Amino acid sequence: MPFYHTLGKIPPKRHTQFRKPDGTLYAEQLFGTIGFDGMSTNSYHEQRPTQVKQIIKQYSVAPKIAKSNNIQSYRFKGFQVKPENDYLQSRSTVLINSDCAIQLAAPKQSTANYFYKNTDADELIFVHKGSGKLRTHLGNLDFKYGDYLLVPRGIIYKIDFDTQDNRLFIVESRRPIYTPKRYRNWFGQLLEHSPYCERDIRRPQELETYNESGDFLIKVKKQDEIIEMVYASHPFDVIGYDGYNYPYAFSIHDFEPITGRIHQPPPVHQTFETDAFVVCSFVPRLYDYHPLSIPAPYNHSNIDSDEVLYYVDGDFMSRNDVAAGHISLHPAGIPHGPHPGATERSIGKTKTDELAVMVDTFKPLMVTEDAMKIADEDYHTSWLE
Ligand SMILES: [Fe+2]
Repeated sequence: MPFYHTLGKIPPKRHTQFRKPDGTLYAEQLFGTIGFDGMSTNSYHEQRPTQVKQIIKQYSVAPKIAKSNNIQSYRFKGFQVKPENDYLQSRSTVLINSDCAIQLAAPKQSTANYFYKNTDADELIFVHKGSGKLRTHLGNLDFKYGDYLLVPRGIIYKIDFDTQDNRLFIVESRRPIYTPKRYRNWFGQLLEHSPYCERDIRRPQELETYNESGDFLIKVKKQDEIIEMVYASHPFDVIGYDGYNYPYAFSIHDFEPITGRIHQPPPVHQTFETDAFVVCSFVPRLYDYHPLSIPAPYNHSNIDSDEVLYYVDGDFMSRNDVAAGHISLHPAGIPHGPHPGATERSIGKTKTDELAVMVDTFKPLMVTEDAMKIADEDYHTSWLE
């Protein structure tokens, strides 16, 4: 996150002696990104964070691809993904390219006996159903319906759920995820025309610190494999940190929509950016107010980006037969637009209650076998009259 945060105890000067009450040194760790060029955090640990005890095993979690070159529009019924007890096993990749993986998950249980770290990707976890606490080595974040949780790569975490009824929409991004640059000034401060500001971004305020030795299982994701490792010290042993690289939460309900007299293009809904895809939030808003406006979107040919819409809640005016938890995929190369009747139906409407998350990728997405299990094979003909 491009603004400074500090939590816990830190010494007045970085890279200097910082001692425990017993006179021994805390272990300092610089947690950087993009070499030493990106955002970084300086953390202070009870024990050295380097104590690998054992590498137990590693196994592939790469999704099986059903269609690698796809030009067919699809609808996927996301709530048909079966709930699983385990958090990692519950994550089902439906669409993927070399930059990102789009996943659905219905985990029933909190991560009890292991920690998790994704070294491949930043994780953007959208909470569709459920609430709980994301616990990380850089502090905790409470979450509930409508929250985006952004976990930068390398953050060690566990996730606690309040109940067994949870639905998550996850984007794993091999490119760093940032707030849109056009909404930031040259100091990084969010500008007045930004649809959200720093006050809307929740940073960790609670730090769990354990000074414990023993066997601590960490499941590390690297190169589409899970590597199970044992560390000799508790991964949550940070006494304090400061910097720019930390997990944060942002609620879709805090996104302030930008509206106009005529139909506004999708970039007004943009919430996050990478150099390989964007994430947009479609939130309840007033419709266009030109006397002859058409609130439904015009047909459009996203010739060089795949468009993924995840439907969260409300009435999806431009689509027929779409429900919460559905995903539509409109691939690059062909135009798409409102379903028959939707344009006419939209005229005279003054507002919408729709809530949806959109991911537009610049490289084509491959469709996985897991996606085909929940696919509506006839969706691509749904524009026929
Ligand atoms: Fe579209």
